[in-house]
Amino acid sequence: MSESRWAGRVALVTGASRGIGEAVVRVLVELGLRVVACGRDEARLEALAAELGEAVWPLAFDLRDLAAIEGAFAQVRARWGGVAVLVNNAGLGKDAPLLSGASDDWRTILEVNVLALCVCTREATADMLRAGSGHVIHVSSMSGHRVPGGGGGVYAASKHAVRALTEGLRRELRAARADGVRVTAVSPGYVATDFHQTLKGGDPAFARPVDYPMLSAADVAEAVRYALCAPAHVELHDVLMRPTQQET
Ligand SMILES: NC(=O)c1ccc[n+]([C@@H]2O[C@H](COP(=O)([O-])OP(=O)(O)OC[C@H]3O[C@@H](n4cnc5c(N)ncnc54)[C@H](OP(=O)(O)O)[C@@H]3O)[C@@H](O)[C@H]2O)c1
Repeated sequence: MSESRWAGRVALVTGASRGIGEAVVRVLVELGLRVVACGRDEARLEALAAELGEAVWPLAFDLRDLAAIEGAFAQVRARWGGVAVLVNNAGLGKDAPLLSGASDDWRTILEVNVLALCVCTREATADMLRAGSGHVIHVSSMSGHRVPGGGGGVYAASKHAVRALTEGLRRELRAARADGVRVTAVSPGYVATDFHQTLKGGDPAFARPVDYPMLSAADVAEAVRYALCAPAHVELHDVLMRPTQQET
């Protein structure tokens, strides 16, 4: 597919204030899309928009507020028309093992990684079905394909849910004969972002969980580009990607 398929159309990226989401925004702008960059950190979103120009609209809200999600999509419809590309990227882990974790931490993981993703998907696919085309991309994880040790059970459960939601959406779209709307998951292993530090309550000692080269956020964003730019009849289902030295 040429880049022109998406030029001028609208994308919404969650978790765009840093890490993988920020890198995805850069790729989407390169593809000619106008991008609604979402997150909670308004200052970082504003800085990204200042750097990339009018193609980026920073929109700050908390994904745990489901009414705020609906409000954001309504704003996008009113100002830019509907969303053609949704990148459900926002997500987090917590140091919250099943034997001892805090209930609120489990709730936050499930609210952001699963429930908000569902609401964003429903709102965006309504726009895509009206337009007859679109692409939903979930940033999932290798933890959606196997369960790591170390207390990551609830995080892995959330990403296994994303795996099921990818196939569930694909089945609904096919049943609706919505052939112009595709769904893809991208499932990375270790990526060098703030994710690991955030998981450990912001402790910088945990910024690098492994001593080998991790994937970069840009590596993951390139997988998003590949999925978006596949020919119209090709639906990439799930891209599993790891650093070459990652064993599990
Ligand atoms: N890094 C890895 O090793 C790795 C591996 C596999 C999969 N992933 C997945 O990749 C995705 C992106 O993670 P990342 O590595 O880029 O992590 P990151 O650098 O920590 O970024 C997480 C993003 O999620 C947003 N977010 C978190 N809670 C939110 C909330 N309540 N409301 C709105 N936005 C919220 C953050 O925005 P604010 O800070 O502005 O709130 C931030 O932009 C996640 O789904 C993660 O599970 C990461």
